[in-house]
Amino acid sequence: MPAEWERVAADARRVLAGNRQRGVSAWEGKRYDFVCPSPTRYPFQWFWDSAFHAIALIHVDPELAKQEIRCLMQGARPDGFIPHMLLWEKSAHDAALREYSITLAHTFYTATIQPPVVARAVLRIHEATGDDGFVREVLPPIRRFFRWLKAYRDPDDDALVAIIQPDESGLDASPKYDSLMQVGYERPEETLPQLRRSMQRLFDAYAPFRADSARIPALDVFTWEDVMVNAIYADGLRCLSKLVAVAGDAPREAFEFEARAARVRRALEEKCWDDRAGVFWDLAGWDEVPAKTLTFSSLFPMIIEDLDPSKAKRLIDEHLLNEREFWLPHPIPSVAATEPSFDPGWRTNTTWRGPTWVNVNWYLYHGLRAHGRGDVARDLAERTVRMLAKGGIREFYDPRTGEGQGARDFGWTTLVLDMIASERGTA
Ligand code: GLC
Repeated sequence: MPAEWERVAADARRVLAGNRQRGVSAWEGKRYDFVCPSPTRYPFQWFWDSAFHAIALIHVDPELAKQEIRCLMQGARPDGFIPHMLLWEKSAHDAALREYSITLAHTFYTATIQPPVVARAVLRIHEATGDDGFVREVLPPIRRFFRWLKAYRDPDDDALVAIIQPDESGLDASPKYDSLMQVGYERPEETLPQLRRSMQRLFDAYAPFRADSARIPALDVFTWEDVMVNAIYADGLRCLSKLVAVAGDAPREAFEFEARAARVRRALEEKCWDDRAGVFWDLAGWDEVPAKTLTFSSLFPMIIEDLDPSKAKRLIDEHLLNEREFWLPHPIPSVAATEPSFDPGWRTNTTWRGPTWVNVNWYLYHGLRAHGRGDVARDLAERTVRMLAKGGIREFYDPRTGEGQGARDFGWTTLVLDMIASERGTA
C-alpha cells in the first residue's frame, strides 16, 4: 500500500480511538461506550454516525464495532422508535441545547430519527465475524425500528417513508429543502438564521401532537419522501432480511423484508425517477411535488443492488462522472456544481450545501461496485484518500481544493478504512 494510504489509515485509527466516550450516564445509570462524531462539537451518540463508526471499527477491532451497536440499541424504545441522538453525558447538555435545533422526547434523547444505516452495519459485522449470537442479540430492536418506520412514517402507504424535518435525513441544511423551509441562498449570512426560524416553526406546529406522533406526517407541514433516506431504507430492508435468516427464528419474515425492499425500490423507480433528466427527485409534501434541486441524493438509488441497470448507468455516466455537476477534483460534492445554491466554500456557514462528505463517498463507492463499475469506484477511493491526505480527517471538504472544513477529527470520515480495505481485497 502506498505510504499516503498508510498515513491516512493510521490517522483514521487515531480518530476512532480519540473520539471514544465512556462513562455512566445520569440516565438510569446506563453505561455508555461509543465513538462520538467529534469530542468538541458533537460529543453525543448519533444514530447514523454510530452505524458508520461501527463499519469503520470492523477494521480496527470487530468487538468494538459490536460495542458501538450495543450502546446505540440502549436507546431503542418499546414501540420500536430509536432516537437520532442519545445525549449520554448530562454535563454537556446545556451547551448542546443552546447550539442545536433539536426537540427532545426525553432529557436524554431526541424525538426524531435518522436514516436506518444500522441494518447494513450489523450485516457487515456479521460478514466479518460470523457471530450469529451477536445478530440474535441486536436484531429485535432493529426489526422493531423497521416496523415502526412503516407504521409511523408511511401514511400514504406507497412504501416510501417520510421524514418530518430536514435533519431527520441527516442532511440538515441541504438546499433541496429550501423551498419548503423558506430558506434562500442569495445572502449567505441569512441562510442559517432563516433555517433556525423555520425549524422553530416546525417545532411549534408539531408540539401539540408529540404524544401521538403518528399524526405528525399527516399535518403536511414538512412531510418529505427523501430519495437518499428511502434508498438506505430499501438497502436496510434487504440487509434485515438476511439478518433474520441468520437468526433463523422467523423464516417468513425474511421473505417479508425482502419483498418490502423490492416494493421500496419499485416505488423509487415509479414515483421519483425522471426519465428526461436521468435522476431521482425527492417528493415534497402530500402532493408529492418533485424537488428538482440536483444533490447527491438524486444519485443515491445506485446503492440498491437490484436497481434497474439502465437507470444506474445513466446516474453514473450522465451525472456522477459529469465534470460540470459531480465529478469535481474532490468528488462527490453534496450539491451539483451547476446549482445556483452550490456553496463549496461554506459561505452560508451551514451544512450539506456543496462540500464533499466521506459517508456519501463510502455508500456510492459500494453502489458503483454493486453495479459493476469497480473502475470508477477505485478512482473515487483514490481521490478520497488523496483528499484526506491533504485535508486531514475532517467533517467535510471543499470539492474544488480538498481543503478540510468543519469539525476536526470527525468520526465517520474514518469510513475511508473500509474503502482502503475493499481496494486491497481484505474487506
Ligand atoms: C450534523 C450532520 C448530521 C450528523 C451530525 C453529527 O448535524 O448534519 O448528519 O449526524 O452532525 O455528526
